Amino acid sequence: MQPPTVESERYAKCIEISKKVRWDIDKDVIRGREFDFSKKFLPDGISKIDKLEFLTKDEQRFLSQIQGRTYANMFGFVERFIVAKILEVSRKHWLGDQVALESLIRFCDEEMKHQELFRRIEMMVKAGMPPGYTFPWNPNEVAAAVLRKSTWAVLGLIYQIELFTQTHYKESIEPDENLSELYKDLFLFHWKEEVTHALMDELEWPLEDQKLTPAEREQAVTELIELVADVDGILQAQAATDVEYFSRQGGRSFREEEKNKILTGVLEAYRWQYIFSGTTHHRFTALLNNLTTEGQRKRLGDALAGLG
Ligand SMILES: [Fe+2]
Ligand SMILES: [Fe+2]
Repeated sequence: MQPPTVESERYAKCIEISKKVRWDIDKDVIRGREFDFSKKFLPDGISKIDKLEFLTKDEQRFLSQIQGRTYANMFGFVERFIVAKILEVSRKHWLGDQVALESLIRFCDEEMKHQELFRRIEMMVKAGMPPGYTFPWNPNEVAAAVLRKSTWAVLGLIYQIELFTQTHYKESIEPDENLSELYKDLFLFHWKEEVTHALMDELEWPLEDQKLTPAEREQAVTELIELVADVDGILQAQAATDVEYFSRQGGRSFREEEKNKILTGVLEAYRWQYIFSGTTHHRFTALLNNLTTEGQRKRLGDALAGLG
Protein backbone atom coordinates (compact mmCIF):
# COMPACT_ATOMS: atom_id res chain seq x y z
CA MET A 1 0.00 0.00 0.00
CA GLN A 2 1.21 3.51 -0.89
CA PRO A 3 1.85 5.76 2.11
CA PRO A 4 -0.91 8.41 2.26
CA THR A 5 -0.11 11.83 0.86
CA VAL A 6 0.27 14.39 3.60
CA GLU A 7 -1.00 17.82 2.62
CA SER A 8 1.89 19.67 4.16
CA GLU A 9 0.84 23.17 3.13
CA ARG A 10 -2.49 22.82 4.93
CA TYR A 11 -0.68 21.90 8.15
CA ALA A 12 1.71 24.82 7.54
CA LYS A 13 -1.30 27.17 7.44
CA CYS A 14 -2.36 25.82 10.85
CA ILE A 15 1.08 26.59 12.28
CA GLU A 16 0.93 30.10 10.88
CA ILE A 17 -2.51 30.77 12.42
CA SER A 18 -1.50 29.13 15.68
CA LYS A 19 1.53 31.44 16.02
CA LYS A 20 -0.52 34.50 15.20
CA VAL A 21 -3.37 33.92 17.68
CA ARG A 22 -1.42 32.40 20.57
CA TRP A 23 -2.52 33.77 23.97
CA ASP A 24 -1.69 33.58 27.65
CA ILE A 25 -4.24 32.64 30.34
CA ASP A 26 -3.45 35.52 32.72
CA LYS A 27 -2.09 38.22 30.44
CA ASP A 28 -4.75 37.92 27.73
CA VAL A 29 -7.80 36.08 29.04
CA ILE A 30 -8.28 36.65 32.78
CA ARG A 31 -6.38 39.96 33.14
CA GLY A 32 -7.11 40.07 36.88
CA ARG A 33 -10.86 40.12 36.28
CA GLU A 34 -13.72 38.33 38.05
CA PHE A 35 -16.96 36.99 36.66
CA ASP A 36 -19.92 39.35 36.73
CA PHE A 37 -22.67 37.32 38.39
CA SER A 38 -25.26 40.01 37.66
CA LYS A 39 -25.09 38.86 34.03
CA LYS A 40 -25.76 35.64 32.16
CA PHE A 41 -22.90 33.32 31.19
CA LEU A 42 -24.32 31.23 28.37
CA PRO A 43 -26.52 33.04 25.84
CA ASP A 44 -30.09 31.86 25.26
CA GLY A 45 -29.15 30.62 21.77
CA ILE A 46 -27.11 27.88 23.47
CA SER A 47 -28.84 27.48 26.84
CA LYS A 48 -32.39 27.54 25.34
CA ILE A 49 -33.49 29.11 28.63
CA ASP A 50 -35.84 31.54 26.88
CA LYS A 51 -38.13 28.57 26.31
CA LEU A 52 -38.65 28.30 30.09
CA GLU A 53 -40.80 31.41 30.20
CA PHE A 54 -42.22 30.68 33.69
CA LEU A 55 -38.80 31.37 35.24
CA THR A 56 -38.13 34.87 36.58
CA LYS A 57 -35.28 36.92 35.11
CA ASP A 58 -33.10 36.11 38.14
CA GLU A 59 -33.83 32.41 37.81
CA GLN A 60 -33.04 32.45 34.11
CA ARG A 61 -29.74 34.17 34.83
CA PHE A 62 -28.85 31.64 37.55
CA LEU A 63 -29.70 28.69 35.28
CA SER A 64 -27.59 30.26 32.51
CA GLN A 65 -24.66 30.46 34.96
CA ILE A 66 -25.09 26.83 35.98
CA GLN A 67 -25.17 25.75 32.33
CA GLY A 68 -22.20 28.02 31.63
CA ARG A 69 -20.23 26.41 34.44
CA THR A 70 -21.02 22.95 33.06
CA TYR A 71 -20.13 24.17 29.56
CA ALA A 72 -16.62 25.22 30.68
CA ASN A 73 -16.18 21.98 32.64
CA MET A 74 -17.24 19.92 29.64
CA PHE A 75 -14.47 21.39 27.51
CA GLY A 76 -11.79 20.79 30.12
CA PHE A 77 -13.07 17.24 30.33
CA VAL A 78 -13.26 16.30 26.62
CA GLU A 79 -9.88 17.89 25.96
CA ARG A 80 -8.31 15.10 28.02
CA PHE A 81 -9.14 12.46 25.42
CA ILE A 82 -8.59 14.87 22.54
CA VAL A 83 -4.93 15.39 23.50
CA ALA A 84 -4.34 11.67 24.02
CA LYS A 85 -5.82 10.79 20.62
CA ILE A 86 -4.05 13.57 18.72
CA LEU A 87 -0.70 12.59 20.29
CA GLU A 88 -1.40 9.05 19.13
CA VAL A 89 -2.25 9.99 15.54
CA SER A 90 0.81 12.29 15.40
CA ARG A 91 2.92 9.13 15.56
CA LYS A 92 2.61 8.49 11.84
CA HIS A 93 4.33 11.85 11.19
CA TRP A 94 7.20 11.35 13.69
CA LEU A 95 9.61 10.19 11.04
CA GLY A 96 7.76 11.77 8.16
CA ASP A 97 6.29 15.19 7.51
CA GLN A 98 7.74 17.46 10.19
CA VAL A 99 5.35 20.30 9.38
CA ALA A 100 2.35 18.05 10.08
CA LEU A 101 4.06 16.90 13.28
CA GLU A 102 4.71 20.46 14.47
CA SER A 103 1.14 21.54 13.84
CA LEU A 104 -0.24 18.56 15.83
CA ILE A 105 2.18 19.28 18.68
CA ARG A 106 0.90 22.87 18.80
CA PHE A 107 -2.67 21.50 18.78
CA CYS A 108 -1.90 19.35 21.86
CA ASP A 109 -0.03 22.15 23.60
CA GLU A 110 -3.04 24.45 23.12
CA GLU A 111 -5.45 21.84 24.49
CA MET A 112 -3.23 21.35 27.56
CA LYS A 113 -3.41 25.11 28.15
CA HIS A 114 -7.19 25.07 27.62
CA GLN A 115 -7.56 22.37 30.26
CA GLU A 116 -5.61 24.53 32.71
CA LEU A 117 -7.77 27.51 31.78
CA PHE A 118 -10.99 25.60 32.40
CA ARG A 119 -9.70 24.33 35.77
CA ARG A 120 -8.92 27.93 36.78
CA ILE A 121 -12.34 29.05 35.61
CA GLU A 122 -14.07 26.34 37.67
CA MET A 123 -12.28 27.60 40.80
CA MET A 124 -13.33 31.19 40.10
CA VAL A 125 -16.95 30.32 39.33
CA LYS A 126 -17.16 28.04 42.37
CA ALA A 127 -16.19 30.94 44.64
CA GLY A 128 -19.08 33.04 43.33
CA MET A 129 -21.89 30.46 43.39
CA PRO A 130 -23.76 28.70 46.22
CA PRO A 131 -22.27 25.34 47.30
CA GLY A 132 -23.62 22.01 46.03
CA TYR A 133 -22.80 22.08 42.31
CA THR A 134 -21.24 18.86 41.04
CA PHE A 135 -19.52 17.80 37.86
CA PRO A 136 -18.76 14.22 38.88
CA TRP A 137 -16.88 12.92 35.83
CA ASN A 138 -13.30 11.75 36.12
CA PRO A 139 -11.64 12.93 32.88
CA ASN A 140 -9.08 10.11 32.89
CA GLU A 141 -11.66 7.36 33.36
CA VAL A 142 -13.92 8.73 30.64
CA ALA A 143 -10.95 9.29 28.32
CA ALA A 144 -9.82 5.69 28.87
CA ALA A 145 -13.28 4.45 27.87
CA VAL A 146 -13.38 6.71 24.80
CA LEU A 147 -9.90 5.61 23.70
CA ARG A 148 -10.96 1.97 23.68
CA LYS A 149 -12.98 2.78 20.56
CA SER A 150 -11.39 2.86 17.12
CA THR A 151 -9.41 5.93 16.11
CA TRP A 152 -11.82 6.61 13.22
CA ALA A 153 -14.75 6.83 15.65
CA VAL A 154 -12.86 9.02 18.14
CA LEU A 155 -11.67 11.40 15.41
CA GLY A 156 -15.28 11.74 14.22
CA LEU A 157 -16.37 12.65 17.74
CA ILE A 158 -13.48 15.11 18.14
CA TYR A 159 -14.21 16.77 14.80
CA GLN A 160 -17.82 17.48 15.67
CA ILE A 161 -16.78 18.92 19.07
CA GLU A 162 -14.28 21.27 17.48
CA LEU A 163 -16.81 22.44 14.93
CA PHE A 164 -19.55 23.19 17.43
CA THR A 165 -17.10 25.13 19.64
CA GLN A 166 -16.74 27.57 16.76
CA THR A 167 -20.42 27.73 15.83
CA HIS A 168 -21.47 28.43 19.41
CA TYR A 169 -19.03 31.27 19.71
CA LYS A 170 -19.67 32.92 16.36
CA GLU A 171 -23.45 32.49 16.27
CA SER A 172 -24.45 32.91 19.89
CA ILE A 173 -21.74 34.10 22.29
CA GLU A 174 -20.08 36.84 20.23
CA PRO A 175 -23.30 38.68 19.22
CA ASP A 176 -24.78 38.69 22.77
CA GLU A 177 -24.10 42.05 24.47
CA ASN A 178 -25.46 41.06 27.87
CA LEU A 179 -23.11 38.30 28.99
CA SER A 180 -20.45 38.45 31.70
CA GLU A 181 -17.48 40.04 29.86
CA LEU A 182 -14.97 37.57 31.24
CA TYR A 183 -17.15 34.62 30.29
CA LYS A 184 -17.49 35.99 26.79
CA ASP A 185 -13.73 36.56 26.47
CA LEU A 186 -13.02 33.06 27.68
CA PHE A 187 -14.75 31.67 24.63
CA LEU A 188 -13.38 34.33 22.30
CA PHE A 189 -9.84 33.21 23.13
CA HIS A 190 -10.80 29.54 23.11
CA TRP A 191 -12.41 29.98 19.67
CA LYS A 192 -9.23 31.61 18.29
CA GLU A 193 -7.20 28.49 18.98
CA GLU A 194 -9.94 26.03 18.05
CA VAL A 195 -10.12 27.20 14.43
CA THR A 196 -6.97 25.30 13.45
CA HIS A 197 -7.95 22.20 15.44
CA ALA A 198 -10.95 21.53 13.21
CA LEU A 199 -8.71 22.08 10.16
CA MET A 200 -6.30 19.43 11.41
CA ASP A 201 -9.15 17.02 12.26
CA GLU A 202 -10.25 17.48 8.66
CA LEU A 203 -6.83 16.24 7.55
CA GLU A 204 -6.36 13.47 10.11
CA TRP A 205 -9.79 11.82 9.89
CA PRO A 206 -9.46 11.01 6.14
CA LEU A 207 -5.88 9.79 6.66
CA GLU A 208 -7.18 7.35 9.25
CA ASP A 209 -10.08 6.44 6.97
CA GLN A 210 -7.70 5.38 4.18
CA LYS A 211 -6.27 2.66 6.43
CA LEU A 212 -9.59 0.89 6.97
CA THR A 213 -11.15 -2.00 5.12
CA PRO A 214 -14.89 -1.70 4.41
CA ALA A 215 -15.60 -4.10 7.30
CA GLU A 216 -13.43 -2.08 9.69
CA ARG A 217 -15.22 1.13 8.64
CA GLU A 218 -18.59 -0.49 9.22
CA GLN A 219 -17.44 -1.37 12.74
CA ALA A 220 -16.02 2.15 13.26
CA VAL A 221 -19.41 3.67 12.41
CA THR A 222 -20.97 1.40 15.05
CA GLU A 223 -18.39 2.66 17.54
CA LEU A 224 -19.09 6.29 16.69
CA ILE A 225 -22.78 5.58 17.39
CA GLU A 226 -21.76 4.01 20.72
CA LEU A 227 -19.67 7.06 21.58
CA VAL A 228 -22.58 9.39 20.87
CA ALA A 229 -24.78 7.22 23.10
CA ASP A 230 -22.14 7.42 25.86
CA VAL A 231 -22.03 11.20 25.53
CA ASP A 232 -25.80 11.24 25.78
CA GLY A 233 -25.65 9.18 28.99
CA ILE A 234 -23.32 11.80 30.49
CA LEU A 235 -25.62 14.61 29.35
CA GLN A 236 -28.69 12.97 30.90
CA ALA A 237 -26.93 12.58 34.24
CA GLN A 238 -25.40 16.08 34.19
CA ALA A 239 -28.71 17.69 33.21
CA ALA A 240 -30.40 15.97 36.18
CA THR A 241 -27.58 17.04 38.52
CA ASP A 242 -27.67 20.65 37.29
CA VAL A 243 -31.46 20.92 37.56
CA GLU A 244 -31.35 19.43 41.05
CA TYR A 245 -28.78 22.05 42.09
CA PHE A 246 -30.85 24.80 40.46
CA SER A 247 -34.02 23.70 42.27
CA ARG A 248 -32.23 23.52 45.62
CA GLN A 249 -30.48 26.87 45.32
CA GLY A 250 -32.98 28.78 43.20
CA GLY A 251 -34.83 30.23 46.18
CA ARG A 252 -38.33 28.81 45.60
CA SER A 253 -39.85 25.38 45.21
CA PHE A 254 -41.15 24.42 41.80
CA ARG A 255 -44.20 22.32 41.09
CA GLU A 256 -43.44 18.82 39.82
CA GLU A 257 -44.65 19.79 36.36
CA GLU A 258 -42.36 22.85 36.26
CA LYS A 259 -39.42 20.80 37.47
CA ASN A 260 -40.00 18.33 34.64
CA LYS A 261 -40.16 21.16 32.12
CA ILE A 262 -36.85 22.56 33.37
CA LEU A 263 -35.21 19.13 33.16
CA THR A 264 -36.54 18.51 29.67
CA GLY A 265 -35.41 21.97 28.58
CA VAL A 266 -31.89 21.60 30.00
CA LEU A 267 -31.43 18.12 28.53
CA GLU A 268 -32.62 19.36 25.15
CA ALA A 269 -30.16 22.23 25.36
CA TYR A 270 -27.29 19.89 26.32
CA ARG A 271 -28.08 17.53 23.46
CA TRP A 272 -28.09 20.44 21.07
CA GLN A 273 -24.87 21.86 22.55
CA TYR A 274 -22.76 18.72 22.64
CA ILE A 275 -24.24 16.53 19.91
CA PHE A 276 -26.61 18.03 17.33
CA SER A 277 -24.89 21.36 16.72
CA GLY A 278 -21.80 19.34 15.73
CA THR A 279 -23.38 16.44 13.86
CA THR A 280 -25.57 18.78 11.78
CA HIS A 281 -22.67 21.17 11.02
CA HIS A 282 -22.28 21.47 7.26
CA ARG A 283 -18.56 20.69 7.38
CA PHE A 284 -19.18 17.57 9.44
CA THR A 285 -21.88 16.26 7.13
CA ALA A 286 -19.77 17.06 4.05
CA LEU A 287 -16.76 15.11 5.30
CA LEU A 288 -18.92 12.27 6.61
CA ASN A 289 -20.47 12.03 3.14
CA ASN A 290 -17.00 11.50 1.67
CA LEU A 291 -16.03 8.83 4.16
CA THR A 292 -19.17 6.72 4.58
CA THR A 293 -21.83 4.91 2.60
CA GLU A 294 -25.47 5.92 2.53
CA GLY A 295 -26.31 2.91 4.68
CA GLN A 296 -23.75 3.94 7.30
CA ARG A 297 -25.07 7.50 7.38
CA LYS A 298 -28.58 6.16 7.80
CA ARG A 299 -27.48 4.11 10.79
CA LEU A 300 -25.91 7.17 12.37
CA GLY A 301 -28.92 9.35 11.50
CA ASP A 302 -31.36 6.84 13.02
CA ALA A 303 -29.29 6.64 16.21
CA LEU A 304 -29.24 10.43 16.51
CA ALA A 305 -32.98 10.67 15.84
CA GLY A 306 -33.52 8.13 18.62
CA LEU A 307 -32.04 10.59 21.13
CA GLY A 308 -35.12 12.78 20.85
FE1 LIG B 1 -9.80 23.59 23.44
FE1 LIG C 1 -9.60 21.85 20.22
